[in-house]
Amino acid sequence: MGNPDQQENRAVDPAKVPQRELFTGARMPAVGLGTFGSDQVTADQVAEAVGGAAAVGYRHFDCASVYGNEAEVGASLERVMGTGIRREELWITSKLWNDKHGENDVIASCRKSLADLRLDYLDLYLVHWPFPNFHPPHCDVTSRSPDARPYIHENFMKTWRRMEELVDLGLVRHIGTSNVTVPKLKLILRDARIKPAVNEMELHPHFQQPELFEFVVDNGMQPIGYCPIGSPGRPERDRTPEDTTPTQDPVIVEIAQRHGVNPAAVCIKWAVQRGQTPIPFSVNHYYENLACVASDPLTSEEMRAIAAIDHDCRLIKGQVFLWKDGQTWEALWDVNGEITPA
Ligand SMILES: NC(=O)c1ccc[n+]([C@@H]2O[C@H](COP(=O)([O-])OP(=O)(O)OC[C@H]3O[C@@H](n4cnc5c(N)ncnc54)[C@H](OP(=O)(O)O)[C@@H]3O)[C@@H](O)[C@H]2O)c1
Repeated sequence: MGNPDQQENRAVDPAKVPQRELFTGARMPAVGLGTFGSDQVTADQVAEAVGGAAAVGYRHFDCASVYGNEAEVGASLERVMGTGIRREELWITSKLWNDKHGENDVIASCRKSLADLRLDYLDLYLVHWPFPNFHPPHCDVTSRSPDARPYIHENFMKTWRRMEELVDLGLVRHIGTSNVTVPKLKLILRDARIKPAVNEMELHPHFQQPELFEFVVDNGMQPIGYCPIGSPGRPERDRTPEDTTPTQDPVIVEIAQRHGVNPAAVCIKWAVQRGQTPIPFSVNHYYENLACVASDPLTSEEMRAIAAIDHDCRLIKGQVFLWKDGQTWEALWDVNGEITPA
């Protein structure tokens, strides 16, 4: 087999992977495996990586219906549990896609993910984006939905009430947000009966989002960081000429050389030590991405050096969610500190 992660009999003891305690007291492994194949890696390859990752010590898997591979991932999870790993040892996240925000769609959509993943509950279910805007999978960056809507808090809360019902029904242990901003989260926290346990957000050394990060932590939520190594395999539609690459940053490269690891590992070590939960995607490097957090921590000086290389460089800009002609992607992210008006 060509995959180095599968060639040798190596593994990380899951007890050595740091954990995050959620407000319910539940514990979530502080590194998860991302499962978005970025349009390039097939569902079967991702599913194989899930099985391989579980064998080397991963217990946390970040899934979503829109990744188009939950059925294949579910078959792998079933095999994983057949090897003696108990369901309670796993942390499985899935996400509600944007065309399923309707009050009658939320529970059905969660049940579909559960059936595909072959589970009877999820540890975490996220509203994937705060915009109820359908766009076809694989569409390019200029694609816009004629029915696109901005964030309308009243409507979001109707969706959230259904998310809360999923907890009441026992189908989901925790619910959370993703791709929200401080002003949106303030309203959600004010009005939620069951508050979000986590916020999933883009986080890497070139996009540290200090204000949102602190807000999330100060409000008793856990930050989960996507694109933790700068998503080198992201689809063409998510690339712009201004984007920077954290794994090529001289500060990261130098620290990597000092520790004898790949720059990606430095990004992951930094994320875990800072307090977020990175969910790196990998079909080829998943072992090293987990192993790197179990030993040889970065020094305080190295942590400070990485804190200083934030470029405020958002990679996943979300252009397809824009709802008005002539808008730029910043409108999605409430950059003026207020929810962008409709
Ligand atoms: N909530 C959201 O809206 C949202 C948005 C985006 C992503 N996500 C989640 O976050 C996960 C991670 O984000 P992402 O996949 O975009 O970006 P990422 O994890 O930063 O980057 C993944 C890419 O990095 C490569 N890679 C991983 N480890 C490496 C290593 N040690 N050395 C060299 N290359 C390495 C992978 O290639 P190999 O396979 O060859 O290792 C893959 O191409 C997704 O899979 C998804 O689960 C969520």
